Amino acid sequence: MIDKNGLHEKAIDLAMHSIGEKTKSVSEDYWRLNYHISTPAFWMNDPNGFSLFKGEYHLFYQHHPYSSKWGPMFWGHVKSEDLVFWEHCPIALAPSEKYDQDGCFSGSAIEKDGLLYLLYTGNVWTGPDYDKDLKQTQCLAVSKDGVYFNKISENPVIASGPNGDVHPHHFRDPKLWKHKDYYYCVLGSRTLDHHGQVLLYRSVDLKTWEFINVMAKSQGDLGYMWECPDFFHLENQDILIMSPQGMEPVDYLYHNLHQAGYVNGKLNYETGELNHGDFELLDYGFDFYAPQTMEDKKGRRIMVAWMAMWESEMPEQQHNWAGAMTIPRQLIIHDKKIKSLPIPEIEKLRKDHVMYQNIMVQGEHKFADLSGDSYELEVIIDAQDALFFGLKVRVCEELNQETLIVYDRLKNMLELNRDRSGNGPKGSRKAPVKLYNNKLHLRIFIDKSSIEIFINNGEKVMSARIYPNQKSKDIYFFSDREIQLKEINKWNLEKSVPISLF
Ligand code: FRU
Repeated sequence: MIDKNGLHEKAIDLAMHSIGEKTKSVSEDYWRLNYHISTPAFWMNDPNGFSLFKGEYHLFYQHHPYSSKWGPMFWGHVKSEDLVFWEHCPIALAPSEKYDQDGCFSGSAIEKDGLLYLLYTGNVWTGPDYDKDLKQTQCLAVSKDGVYFNKISENPVIASGPNGDVHPHHFRDPKLWKHKDYYYCVLGSRTLDHHGQVLLYRSVDLKTWEFINVMAKSQGDLGYMWECPDFFHLENQDILIMSPQGMEPVDYLYHNLHQAGYVNGKLNYETGELNHGDFELLDYGFDFYAPQTMEDKKGRRIMVAWMAMWESEMPEQQHNWAGAMTIPRQLIIHDKKIKSLPIPEIEKLRKDHVMYQNIMVQGEHKFADLSGDSYELEVIIDAQDALFFGLKVRVCEELNQETLIVYDRLKNMLELNRDRSGNGPKGSRKAPVKLYNNKLHLRIFIDKSSIEIFINNGEKVMSARIYPNQKSKDIYFFSDREIQLKEINKWNLEKSVPISLF
């Protein structure tokens, strides 16, 4: 263990002080989320170190504790017993050593011999161009209690990337898992001529690492860099998740600055190669990046992602915070594709149930007792002969605000449109969606400044940040011809992420 001079501890204390000063004013912002994880103050990006340790779930995140903009990265930390009710913990990692002086970048966590280990990327800028002048190494920190971490004296444990067609500097975001006698990690990388790829390493003790192979790489159509890889085995499939930077839009796909998705296949642990199928998105909305997964107490695969997008406008920055996580989603496999479902535990937050059945709608319809800004809404719509139908949430007629969800029957597309959502970024995203028995099933999660739509039992998901006025609470259904609202269930959802630091 190092930190002889207490540099790491001091850096954490100073950062905690900085956050502490802003927590109260941040908590007064209307857009603060009720049941989504965000920082007590200032900036967050990727989920890191999502893990189960001594019966509790830990989620760390990329954090800049001095501003609502990205900067030298720390690791913020929350923990939970049930993945629903979270508590804030002290900052876990701060840049304090030569090898991580400009940031403790993304990484993951694993339990070994009763200790919690974090494997993360130490980032050092070697010149003014952040794209070229950087040195990235992989470093290990360890904790007995899952709260206070020490960086080990052998750091960095992977001091440089392998030889071959591997970019020497863009080398980051290790994701750990155990398989038989070895620990493995995948690392985000790119080739020398800028095609995204993922590297596979193995170790017996987490300290000495052996490069096995390039696990998978872009053949030219999947971007210039793959960030934040994740790998797991689920229902007889090997899944590689990655976040490709720089994919070009194709038709309705890939309109966000960067993408997040997966390929499905079979890993040969000896050669280190993944034989896999096509790239699929994990979310079709605006704000979803760098997802990370872990296996929970029940053996389920749970995913959380950063519910934001690089370079997107974030109006909450005016109020000294930025970014949030998606709700935890359970991944299951259906027809070799991933479905993402809200974890059932989230139902603990439900209250004030309102239900309607078999209501015919043509034109526009508003239910007097359906409204809100922190709720789950489940709807099953029988399309009958309608060509366009859907609903509007976070509506205020007087302010001309609405967030639109519309199904186009001829194109089989569901559109999420935030042009009139309020403040913040605008635009529309589309997902290909089929009707089953002529029906569309949606579960919509609204929090104060977010929307997540789970379509047809998790076949597709669309997530976005939206920034409506607090008056914008109405819900409307609409259709060009008659539709039947077979079922509507709405529950308000309680707060489960506290405002305060401890
Ligand atoms: C992804 C990412 C990672 C990096 C981290 C830095 O969003 O760019 O590749 O480790 O953010 O905060």
